[in-house]
Amino acid sequence: MKTQYIKALLLLCTAAGLIQSATSQTIEKQASSPPAPVAISGANAKPVNLKALSKDISAEDLRILMQSYTKAIGAPCGYCHEENTQTKKMDFASDANPMKDTARLMIRMTNDINNRYLAQLGDRRYAEPLTCGNCHQGHTSPPTFEPKP
Ligand code: HEC
Ligand code: HEC
Repeated sequence: MKTQYIKALLLLCTAAGLIQSATSQTIEKQASSPPAPVAISGANAKPVNLKALSKDISAEDLRILMQSYTKAIGAPCGYCHEENTQTKKMDFASDANPMKDTARLMIRMTNDINNRYLAQLGDRRYAEPLTCGNCHQGHTSPPTFEPKP
């Protein structure tokens, strides 16, 4: 009787231990999962003020595109977007920063170069479309071309 009781107790302890290690594993897993992308307020919401890009663009594709802009011109989001002075957060839908309209012009220009001009070359299936980075090379003003001596 007594040994049976101890056996049952041992079994219980092992089971409890297993459950505990399983739970702590899940917690560890959660903790080690990659951190969420930098919290950008308003950046994950459905865009409300698109005038140059397609209005059908998903929030995720827009985020990727915007990140490509920062890399292409070597400047942060705030170079084109306005910070709300009260909340100290970016107000991405605002047009208060004039650089945003300059960028809109650039978007239209780049689209025109690709769709109106380069498209006339005919079969461009294997050619990459022209991007902001082709000209800007990581600078706000495209660097001048330095021919090899
Ligand atoms: C080179 C300038 C530029 C940079 C840098 C830039 N953006 Fe933008 N962003 C724009 C322009 C221009 C628009 C509006 C496009 C349009 O009118 O179709 C826009 C629109 C947006 C919108 C949609 C707002 C709305 O509701 O209409 C979000 C969100 C956004 N940007 C987030 C970001 C984030 C996040 C970054 C930094 C990772 C960033 N942007 C960097 C130029 C820029
Ligand atoms: C064909 C080349 C070319 C392409 C493509 C291009 N740009 Fe430009 N961009 C320029 C030139 C040239 C200027 C003027 C630079 C100056 O005045 O110093 C400029 C200026 C700008 C400026 C103003 C910088 C400032 O500080 O005044 C921004 C912002 C900008 N471009 C963003 C973009 C974005 C975003 C894209 C892609 C959607 C893009 N550009 C595509 C050539 C290009």
